[in-house]
Amino acid sequence: MLVSVRDTDWAGVRLHVVTGKGGTGKTTVAAALALALASNGKPVLLMEVEGRQGIAQLFDVPPLPYEERRVAVAPAADGRPGGDVFALAVDPQSALIEYLEMFYNLRQAGRALTRFGVMDFATTIAPGLSDVLLTGKAAEATRRKVKGSPVYGAVVMDAPPTGRISRFLNVSSEVSGLAKVGPIRSHADTVQKVIRSGQTAVHFVTLLEEMPVQETLDGIADLKEIGRGGIQAGAIIVNMMRQGWSELDDGTDAARDTQELEVALKAVGLGDDPKLAVDLAAELADETRTERTQSARRRQLDKAGQPVYELPLISDGIDLAALYRLAEALREQGAA
Ligand SMILES: Nc1ncnc2c1ncn2[C@@H]1O[C@H](COP(=O)(O)OP(=O)(O)OP(=O)(O)O)[C@@H](O)[C@H]1O
Ligand SMILES: [Mg+2]
Repeated sequence: MLVSVRDTDWAGVRLHVVTGKGGTGKTTVAAALALALASNGKPVLLMEVEGRQGIAQLFDVPPLPYEERRVAVAPAADGRPGGDVFALAVDPQSALIEYLEMFYNLRQAGRALTRFGVMDFATTIAPGLSDVLLTGKAAEATRRKVKGSPVYGAVVMDAPPTGRISRFLNVSSEVSGLAKVGPIRSHADTVQKVIRSGQTAVHFVTLLEEMPVQETLDGIADLKEIGRGGIQAGAIIVNMMRQGWSELDDGTDAARDTQELEVALKAVGLGDDPKLAVDLAAELADETRTERTQSARRRQLDKAGQPVYELPLISDGIDLAALYRLAEALREQGAA
């Protein structure tokens, strides 16, 4: 029997890295994307690397230990039950202990190093080492197999912000001064193979504001320039879109609007205050200006040549129902 394959923009991508300017909604969008991908039926791992416990807060569960925990079940889709979403908060120290154990059976040594504060020392003098451990964990989860089949259908990383993402992902060059040969080097090379392959895509979350848009465009350019074929840029996700802004007509004219408003206000019995129509017309003109600038920014984003998805501003706050809504919006637009 033929199994129908869903037509998505990211066939073959298994590691989804979500970045963006601070506060634009990276954590929220990463979680929504994880739910969207898990709707395909397979479990998905949602990882955070900044030690802020943003995922636990979002899903309203206790702080995540260094252990993969189920936090949600994706909505059913295409007549198939949704897969589980697991979450993991990765920190460099736990990743190093795990790494030492995996490669050298050295859990005890890792523990001792932690006890004597060596781990802080190692990860502080060599920030590249801490990055390679975090991206290494993502690569490991992406490649992990049981009886020949992948454990996770996809891995989604709530990654550092745009300003740090290229450096964070470009771990191979970061550790080169640190370890030219040996296990850390070859570990870094394996991680780079995953990150620079078609299996990885870096998505950018933005708002239609000047700085986040500029950072998105710069970030996409940086990924291409990273060398050795670059790292694949993914989608641009315009978050917190106000509904209906694009429907407002372009030809707003304050004088005409004031007249029309005066008539309309009289008709509903609010015609006594002459200032009201003027104020409302000014507000409308202001809105229109903002909307024009936003359309221009939207066109700038389109020119980057990546798929662009839009997510609505959800006014009553982000709970699981809101995340489901955002996940569905991402699926409809081709993200999963
Ligand atoms: N589509 C949306 N509608 C309404 N509120 C949203 C939406 N997306 C995100 N938010 C809210 O915006 C705030 C910032 O979101 P989030 O924490 O996901 O951003 P972030 O980019 O991860 O931030 P940080 O840089 O601090 O990690 C949160 O309060 C979140 O609930
Ligand atoms: Mg966040």
